[in-house]
Amino acid sequence: MPYYPEEVIQEVRERNNIVDVIGSYIHLEKKGSNYFGLCPFHNEKSPSFSVSESRQSYHCFGCGKGGNVFTFLMEYENYTFPEAVQALAERAGVQLPEREMSSEEKAHQKKREVLLQIQKDTAIFYYHTLLSPAGRNGLAYLRKRALTDETIKSFGLGYSPARADQLYRYLRGRGYNDRDLSDSGLFRIDERGAFDRFWNRVMFPIMDINNHVIGFGGRVMGDGEPKYLNSPETDIFDKSRNLFALNVAKRTRKPYMLVCEGYMDVITLHQAGFTNAVASLGTAFTDQHAQILKRYTKELILTFDSDGAGIKAALRAAPMVRAAGLNARVLTMKPYKDPDEFIKNMGAEAYQERIDQAQNSFLFEIAQARSQKDTADPAQRTEFINLCAEKLLSFRDPLERDSYVRAVSQDYAIDYRLLTEKVESMEAETAARELSGTGRRGEYREYRDYRGGGNPSTGDRPDYRGAGNSFPAYRRADSRREEYQNRDAGRYDGGYRPRESAAAQKMPEPRRAAAGIPEYQKVILATLAEQPSLWEEVRQVLAPEDFAEGVCRSAAEQLFSQLSEGKPDAAKIVDSFAAEGEGYSEAASIFDSVLKDGADDVDRRKALRECVLRLKKDGYEKRQQNAKDFAELNSIINEEKEFERKWNSPDA
Ligand code: UTP
Ligand code: MN
Repeated sequence: MPYYPEEVIQEVRERNNIVDVIGSYIHLEKKGSNYFGLCPFHNEKSPSFSVSESRQSYHCFGCGKGGNVFTFLMEYENYTFPEAVQALAERAGVQLPEREMSSEEKAHQKKREVLLQIQKDTAIFYYHTLLSPAGRNGLAYLRKRALTDETIKSFGLGYSPARADQLYRYLRGRGYNDRDLSDSGLFRIDERGAFDRFWNRVMFPIMDINNHVIGFGGRVMGDGEPKYLNSPETDIFDKSRNLFALNVAKRTRKPYMLVCEGYMDVITLHQAGFTNAVASLGTAFTDQHAQILKRYTKELILTFDSDGAGIKAALRAAPMVRAAGLNARVLTMKPYKDPDEFIKNMGAEAYQERIDQAQNSFLFEIAQARSQKDTADPAQRTEFINLCAEKLLSFRDPLERDSYVRAVSQDYAIDYRLLTEKVESMEAETAARELSGTGRRGEYREYRDYRGGGNPSTGDRPDYRGAGNSFPAYRRADSRREEYQNRDAGRYDGGYRPRESAAAQKMPEPRRAAAGIPEYQKVILATLAEQPSLWEEVRQVLAPEDFAEGVCRSAAEQLFSQLSEGKPDAAKIVDSFAAEGEGYSEAASIFDSVLKDGADDVDRRKALRECVLRLKKDGYEKRQQNAKDFAELNSIINEEKEFERKWNSPDA
């Protein structure tokens, strides 16, 4: 990741007026000293998104998002900090310094650039071919599948001609060498010659999130094997790190994304207005995909095929999605096979209804298990209940678990108390089993301490094949599917790769700094940033440690050191969090908390003093409560007296 010196970042920030930058994305109107518009980060009808020119910051009173010109692009375009810096530098014509790369890095980057250029040239070639007389059949096929010319254009669909080396000759003509062409995955080159990988297929370019073409899927027109042929993985094409149409879907404002199985499903959904649909690339959906999507959304709606293979795929994906910390729901398209067929027959509104009705993925799993059993048979009913209990163990949060126990007991007429007891006894059993002789006691205890109880052994399992469980491990039943998954690349064998080790999964998440910074702490920092002349008055009594741990404290540290050098710069502090990729909204919210318009210096000083007093008093109180002995208590009381003396003396 490139690293830019502070002066450069500052120059880029200063040369990009936030009002112009944000104004190029959304309509802003001036009201008083600020600009207002509809917030791009949540749905709203009346504008609560404000942009301050003097502070070069934005803040939404509706959803609480805030920050500076860099964080705006990070949120809006999903850029990383360096990407935001690059985009704004380009916009303002600021020359960014080149970081020195090793010769190996340079060669690698050069190679990637050539490979990307080959894919791009190829996409253009296929697209032109589609629109040329040679592409007549391809175009007719796509139209028969009800794609509009606009859709064809926006997805850059194409056609690979029937002759075996047309693309090869075209690209050679553009000056690429055999080595690079061979590494592109688009050809088979051997002693007999060079052959295009794709011919006589309609072509679906696959793009990364930055809109670079990185590979292709090609479909036969009509029947033929394989139905879809995909590019192999290359230096620039990693199937586990990319999703079809994520470059478009990442901009959605909806709070969820739709995950489908097929390219055509995604395209049809986008055409119908569901521009938040994505699909994996001819491979199974993996936890890595879930991790990537987590950067853009909080909920995934699985809209997999209605057949047995699709249900199995959903059963396999759902726990992974939840394990990634995302909400998961499962949408049914019955009686239709996939989103493409559903939309064609029922239309977009009906699909939206199915989205609204999509089932909680856990309850979907339970319902599937239930459908495999004849619960009139006592033995099978017992098995079913055991299985429910075992799956319920996967919820670590007691409240959440209880909600699910209630839902399951209600839906399947299982006695609530009985089910709760069953889950508890299973938990104890598993814990005992896990701990006997495994030498992991310490770890377990640590975990229990952190969770306040709970079972480390069963959480977040991607698969559930314990006793009494009849779910098969994931396998595509349909042999044709299995074939393409095998062929595509060695790793897509349909089986699941174990996630992290069991032990790693048990590690508690790092404790998050207490959410929500007390308002009076924000006021102190914001006031000092705006009116550094007040610093003299309070510097003697303030220390960064007085502030809430986390973002607030580190903002205080930075601000105090800036103040002592006489150069307070709140924007720079927000940048430092943006560069780390987190905390910037919180940091921005600190410096956005200013006094009401019209507050004068006397008000400011008064407010500052009140807040500082409160901060200090709170701090002493907390420390006194936590004092371990009388001596410590005594010394804190003395400190407090000393503080009061200073605070009330005329020069403070
Ligand atoms: P489907 O067979 O469900 O195709 O495969 P589809 O999306 O409904 O396509 P149409 O409507 O028949 O055109 C779903 C996905 O599985 C991968 C592709 O990514 C496809 O979009 N697949 C399927 C392959 O990679 N190879 C195949 O031979 C078949
Ligand atoms: Mn289909």
